[in-house]
Amino acid sequence: MSISIAEVTESAKSALLAIAGANELSDLKSVKIEHLGDKSPLSKASQALGKIAAEEKAAFGKVVGSAKAEVSAAYEARLKVLEAERDSRVLIEERVDVTLPASNIPKGGLHPLTILTNEISDLFIGLGYRVAEGPELEAEWLNFDALNIPADHPARTMQDTFFIEPLDSKLVLRTHTSPVQIRTMLENNPPIYVICPGRTYRADELDATHTPVFSQVEGLVIDRGITMADLKGTLDYFAQSIFGPDVKTRLRPSFFPFTEPSAEVDFFFNGRWIEWGGCGMVNPKVLEVCGIDTTEFTGFAFGMGLERTLMVRHGITDMHDIVEGDTRFTRSFGLGIK
Ligand code: FA5
Ligand code: MG
Repeated sequence: MSISIAEVTESAKSALLAIAGANELSDLKSVKIEHLGDKSPLSKASQALGKIAAEEKAAFGKVVGSAKAEVSAAYEARLKVLEAERDSRVLIEERVDVTLPASNIPKGGLHPLTILTNEISDLFIGLGYRVAEGPELEAEWLNFDALNIPADHPARTMQDTFFIEPLDSKLVLRTHTSPVQIRTMLENNPPIYVICPGRTYRADELDATHTPVFSQVEGLVIDRGITMADLKGTLDYFAQSIFGPDVKTRLRPSFFPFTEPSAEVDFFFNGRWIEWGGCGMVNPKVLEVCGIDTTEFTGFAFGMGLERTLMVRHGITDMHDIVEGDTRFTRSFGLGIK
């Protein structure tokens, strides 16, 4: 016989010691493999039973059987203890304190200028207009020349321009949305009904009523028989939709090289007249540059500042609030996601 009774007892003893010494479930698992697994001394003793002489089989079998039973029972008992320890540890470590303040990540929202832009776009789309767009980095020719503002014309200095280096690139940051008029007329045949909201740039200091980066919305209509009365009616509808049904508009004679006649449009709000933007009948010179037959078509155009519109409508007294991006300001307008 290869294993003696003494050896079995010894193996059982060291198995019990190892089980008692296992302080982690992972340790206990290795102990089980070592002392109760197929290759453990106790399993080998069981396997050896078959080769034992018949008269010794009963006694040896009993020793092996009770040793295995004792070690297995010790293992099960230790497993229960270690599992209970793990469970209570997990309860503490993974505890969730439901009384802690929640981390409150605010939902995003649209900037009030974007809300206003969407509102104006919807309004004009409802009248059958299309929304046109153009680049903010614009050809000087489209920003000025095509709009009847030649290089030496004093009107160029009315808009303090950011020129782009190298200067012979002939690019500017567009000073108004009016170049989109030209782009639209070059690309489309009348009738044309478009509005163009967008960002514009001028070398103006940031103060309570000016910002170097601001927004305008341009309107352009070219069709047969368009008159100043159509312009006035459109501006009235626009103003009433934005400021309320009682708002009145007035046109004051003015000058823009690309409109003839030209006017400033004011509206009457909270007891006073407020300048809103420029407008007029599209100058035939501009129509000709764009290849439009001036014997058949006439048109009007207007351009308003969106920051100023927002300021008047919401009683904002300082332009800084609109441009500085403080969410305490923008949040008061709500999410604006419809
Ligand atoms: C123009 O820009 C013309 N293109 C408007 C126009 C369009 C006339 C179509 C005729 C036909 P003006 O320079 O006045 O016009 O600017 C229009 C509006 O832009 C102003 O009334 C004002 O509301 C706004 N604006 C101009 N400069 C600034 C600025 N620095 N900050 C904020 N708003 C400004
Ligand atoms: Mg003006």
